[in-house]
Amino acid sequence: MMRLSIFFKAFLLLPAATVDSYATPEACSTCTNAHDPSIIRRTDGTYFRFSTGGKIAIHTAPDLVGPWTYKGAVVPSGSSINLAGNQGLWAPDVTKIGDLYYLYYSVSSFGSQNSAIGLARSSSMDAGSWTDVGAVGVTSTSSKSYNAIDANLVQHANGTYFMAFGSWWNGLHMVQMSATPKSTAGTSAFQLSYDGSDKAEEGAYMFKYGSYYYLFYSKGTCCGYDATRPAAGKEYRILVCRSTSLTGGFVDKSGKACTSGGGTVVLPSHDWVYGPGGQGVYQDPRRGPVIYYHYVDTRVGYADGQKRFGWNKLDFSSGWPVV
Ligand SMILES: *[C@@H]1O[C@H](CO)[C@@H](O)[C@H](O)[C@H]1NC(C)=O
Repeated sequence: MMRLSIFFKAFLLLPAATVDSYATPEACSTCTNAHDPSIIRRTDGTYFRFSTGGKIAIHTAPDLVGPWTYKGAVVPSGSSINLAGNQGLWAPDVTKIGDLYYLYYSVSSFGSQNSAIGLARSSSMDAGSWTDVGAVGVTSTSSKSYNAIDANLVQHANGTYFMAFGSWWNGLHMVQMSATPKSTAGTSAFQLSYDGSDKAEEGAYMFKYGSYYYLFYSKGTCCGYDATRPAAGKEYRILVCRSTSLTGGFVDKSGKACTSGGGTVVLPSHDWVYGPGGQGVYQDPRRGPVIYYHYVDTRVGYADGQKRFGWNKLDFSSGWPVV
């Protein structure tokens, strides 16, 4: 939150166009090990945060602000999916269904389309309580137009489950899941977004607010900034599209279809925040809608292992989410 005095100083000294329009991340203690976070609050009030790598790292905290404590791995012996990357695991997505927590993860390796989405389940989310279910049937090889990574399970108002996923390759996709979403419903995946001039869209996160489904995603180069940094503006950033339908018709703020390159920026690099992405949106009981993400704190370092967990309140009052 911007203090009034700082706001006035910035307003008086700088031309309006250079005044920051994005809030910096809220306070957070021990917020490391945070790539592609997924957040959920257990009924006892404990916040769980899952992240990429380490066979899906589990952290818990009494609140979003931390302190976050490492608790172990979701699948300590790795995924049962027989693919390169099954000892790393990326991009967790956690949902509660009935009495069970479903955690989807990706098995892949950097720059490869040999990928699959897997599932682990638990009744408590504690380390040691997870059972690896394995592949859910969303897979890819170089013969596919997408990459089967970055799952996000969403439920239609009629009860049907869908999984948004992808992709880096050719934008975001979606597939219908079975009634118990351990597997797909057997129908083909379809396209949610596509930008022919910049296909690097991934990390979908669907959030229902009011009468719209908001499709948040990350665009650009996610990783390895300590070795090579992309052209300015091509690093990870968070975009959004919305639709009244869960399964298509997503447009940006200007009305441009998100299957034709549309997409409204929610959070790009700003101040000392670089490459924010891997986001989710959480309806926090204490704060309302919150966007959370990983980012590079340029005052700390650009390596993937140095990425920080950040969060901010989201203001939907204009119909479009604002940080
Ligand atoms: C629920 O809605 C989705 C999206 O329109 C549709 O594909 C699905 O068949 C519907 N399912 C039921 C049970 O009505």
